[in-house]
Amino acid sequence: MNEIEAIRARHSVRNYREQRIEQEKIGLLEAMIAECNEKGNLHLQFIEDAGKTFNKLLNKAMGLGSAPSVIACVGPDDELLAERIGYYGEKIVLYAQTLGLNTCWAGTFNPKNVMAEIRDGERLVIVIAIGYGQNAGKDHKSKTEDQVSKAKGERPEWFDFGVEMALLAPTAINQQKFEICLEEDGTVTFTDLGGVHSKTDLGIVRYHFEAGRDHIKAGGGR
Ligand SMILES: Cc1cc2nc3c(=O)[nH]c(=O)nc-3n(C[C@H](O)[C@H](O)[C@H](O)COP(=O)(O)O)c2cc1C
Repeated sequence: MNEIEAIRARHSVRNYREQRIEQEKIGLLEAMIAECNEKGNLHLQFIEDAGKTFNKLLNKAMGLGSAPSVIACVGPDDELLAERIGYYGEKIVLYAQTLGLNTCWAGTFNPKNVMAEIRDGERLVIVIAIGYGQNAGKDHKSKTEDQVSKAKGERPEWFDFGVEMALLAPTAINQQKFEICLEEDGTVTFTDLGGVHSKTDLGIVRYHFEAGRDHIKAGGGR
């Protein structure tokens, strides 16, 4: 499964099987996490036993309590932290999908129960539940390309496909509060239109867009 296939196959999964993740896959995930930490100046951590991360009332109603493991999204607390976490966290989410695992970004969790190392000056922004889902999840209701993007000139195929991939991205409460704009000089700008966790959303959306753009530019089909 390549990254575009992973984008299409990924959905949030909130109910997990008891099966733990195999050590071999944990090793692969940890290698990917280490690479993302290096590139993104982050301190993301795989925590094999999710313990009581999801014991909040909302989790009891929505699920996630069955997730065997979590990725704690920690990093130096600067202005771009949440966006960087979105970008690199989604790279890991899509990689997990290619390994046959399921995930769910979760802003609702109990920070006291996350056994992550948080160094001075760092912040735990969000977690990602990870494991083998009881199901594969389902398609989310989506805005249209016109609602989330505009181009000051012609719309090349790589731009359209990037937007299509961005619309498949997970966003908090499925808000899709972003705008992608192709400027006259060919650069692409991403605007956060506000909302809960919208900075993390923006990083996730940018990752999806770039995967779509690069796929077309490398000669891939739609
Ligand atoms: C930043 C962020 C925070 C989220 N927080 C939660 C959460 O606390 N609980 C939950 O059940 N889902 C959470 N989600 C999952 C979204 O509800 C989900 O991505 C959205 O409904 C779209 O569905 P999909 O991921 O299946 O495409 C979150 C997603 C993102 C990106």
